Amino acid sequence: MRHVSPILRPWFTVSAERNAKEPFGIVDARFVAAAVAIGSLPGPVGVEIAFAGRSNVGKSSLINALVERKNLVRTSGRPGATRQLNVFEARARDGAVLGFVDLPGYGYAQRSKTERQTWAELIDDYLTTRVTLAAVVLIVDARRGLEEDDMALIEFITTMRVPSRRPVEVVLVATKIDKLPRSAWRTEVERIGKAAGRRVIAFSAETGEGRSELLRAIRKSALGGLPGPTENR
Ligand code: GTP
Ligand code: MG
Repeated sequence: MRHVSPILRPWFTVSAERNAKEPFGIVDARFVAAAVAIGSLPGPVGVEIAFAGRSNVGKSSLINALVERKNLVRTSGRPGATRQLNVFEARARDGAVLGFVDLPGYGYAQRSKTERQTWAELIDDYLTTRVTLAAVVLIVDARRGLEEDDMALIEFITTMRVPSRRPVEVVLVATKIDKLPRSAWRTEVERIGKAAGRRVIAFSAETGEGRSELLRAIRKSALGGLPGPTENR
């Protein structure tokens, strides 16, 4: 037991007990802004995590699952539901505040060339100018794996350099694993990991599988060190 000044003792006990549960768990989340152009985004004040992936892959559902809110972010059975940058603010149990940015999906064939160009410019602007961006959670469908667009985005993110910003990390997630039997999704997730040459987090917005692991990965990218009792699990 570490020595704590008597005056601080009650506080330490309370915070340690509370944080031991799931220190990175999101206890509060709110919508901040929607932006169709980079200029209308709120100023870059706090560390941000962006969520990217093909249209309809489950980005918005993943954010809702992460913050344990059913309808914080609008989801849809039809592709192309998210057409702008949606900014949220999430507060973790231990008090850390992170910005979550839901990016519009790519690869939706029904889009016109002009719309795809507008998308590309918006994402490019965001990724290359947002100085507070720490990581991009790149989401693929566990059943489809990595496709060309996903690979291209990983390559872009890992090679782009913005002065006065740390390199942006990619956190790769394979979602909708609930749609596959456990043995099958394990194989799929391994295959995706091999193809990407990086760790993959298996996730389901339906069952909540992978939530804690993803929260930890996000926290590590956003704030560095990972204190806490579950560090080596
Ligand atoms: P766009 O904004 O159009 O790019 O889509 P999105 O990537 O935000 O996907 P969204 O979260 O809207 O989900 C698309 C559809 O997939 C919805 O019908 C969701 O209910 C469903 N879905 C998302 N995640 C999961 C999951 O983990 N499991 C299952 N079974 N369905 C999911
Ligand atoms: Mg969406």
